[in-house]
Amino acid sequence: MSNNTIALDMGSSFTSIYQVGQHVVLFEPSLIAFQSDDLSKVKAVGLEAKKLLGRTTDSTELVAPVFDSNITDERSASKMLESFLNKITVRKFSARPSVVMSVPCGVTEKGLRAYERVLKDAGVSDYAFIESPVLTAIGLNVSMTNASPAFIVDIGGGTTEIAAVSLDGIICGVTVNIGGLTLDSMLMTHLKEKFQLKIGSLTAENIMHGVCSLIEGDTTSMVVHGQSMATGRPDSILLSARDVLEPLKIFFDKIFQVTSMVLAKLPAEVSADIRRNGVYFSGGLSKIEGLEEYFRQTMGMRANIFADAQVATVLGGGVVAENKQLLKKLRINKI
Ligand SMILES: Nc1ncnc2c1ncn2[C@@H]1O[C@H](COP(=O)(O)OP(=O)(O)OP(=O)(O)O)[C@@H](O)[C@H]1O
Ligand SMILES: [Mg+2]
Repeated sequence: MSNNTIALDMGSSFTSIYQVGQHVVLFEPSLIAFQSDDLSKVKAVGLEAKKLLGRTTDSTELVAPVFDSNITDERSASKMLESFLNKITVRKFSARPSVVMSVPCGVTEKGLRAYERVLKDAGVSDYAFIESPVLTAIGLNVSMTNASPAFIVDIGGGTTEIAAVSLDGIICGVTVNIGGLTLDSMLMTHLKEKFQLKIGSLTAENIMHGVCSLIEGDTTSMVVHGQSMATGRPDSILLSARDVLEPLKIFFDKIFQVTSMVLAKLPAEVSADIRRNGVYFSGGLSKIEGLEEYFRQTMGMRANIFADAQVATVLGGGVVAENKQLLKKLRINKI
C-alpha cells in the first residue's frame, strides 16, 4: 500500500489514525457535536466536541457514535470520520486513503457491514478489516507463533478484548462490555453510597485518571466537586486512592475472571507457554497504577505493561498496512 494509506482504530472513547510513512497523526475522542435544529451542521468534532461534554445547551446535540466497540449511530460515525480524514495530512492527496481498520474480536457480519457503510459514506472505498487483538500484539512488538501465542488483554473505554493470538489470527478470544465507562459508573455509584455525593461522568473519569490505584496504602488524593445528596447544594470532598480501591478491585477482578475463562479454553501446552511469557495489557485502563502487581498477586502470572499501550492497536495497523503479505493473511474481508 502507498503513502496514501492509513491505519484506523475507531474506539468507543478515542479514534486514532496512523499514516504510513509518518506515525500516529490523530488521537482524538470519538465524539461529534451537531446543531440540534439542523443535524446536518457539525459544530465540533473530537477534542473540541469533548470540551462541550456536560456543558451542552439545547442547541447542541453531542453524539458518541461508537459504543461498546460497535457503531451505534452510522450517520454520526461517518461524519466524524470524514472530519478526522479532512484534518490529517492525507487531504493533500486527491483521493481518499486506503484504510486498514481494526474491528472487535469476534465481530459479526452485521457489525462489519456497518463499518463498511461508515467508511463508504466518509468517501473510503479501499479498506481491509483486521481483528483488533492481533493488531495490538503486532503494535506491542510481541513475538508470537501458533505454538506460542501472545495473550492480549486490551481494556478500553467501552470493552475489554481478551485473546490468544498468533500471526495467523485469533486462536481464542472474547470481547466483553466492560471498560472505562463501566468503571465511571461504578465510581459514581460508590461516591453516592459512601459520601452521599453526586458526580458527573467527566468527574468520574478525572478520578480514574487522578487517584485510582491498585497499590495498597496509596495516599494519592484529590478534591472532588459534586452535589450533596442531602442538601442538593454544591459540595466537595477530599478523595484518596484508598477510598476507591474497593470498586477498582471489583472491576479488575471481573476482567481477570474472563481472562481465566479464556486461558482455560487453550490447550495445556499453549497455556503453560502463556504462563511463562505473561499477559500483555493494552488500552487506556492498563495505565492504572499498580495493575502489574495486582495481576501477579491475583493470577500468579506476569503482566507486561507498555507506555504507549493506548495506541498499540493503531500502531499494529500501521505495521500491517506496510506489509502486503501480512495484510492478505490477516484481513477478514477477503475480497
Ligand atoms: N491514565 C489513565 N488512567 C486511567 N484510565 C485511563 C487513563 N488514560 C485513559 N484512561 C481511560 O481509558 C479509556 C480509553 O481507553 P482506549 O483509548 O483504549 O479506549 P477505546 O479504544 O476508545 O475503547 P474500546 O476499545 O473499548 O472501543 C477511557 O475510559 C479513559 O478514561
Ligand atoms: Mg480500543
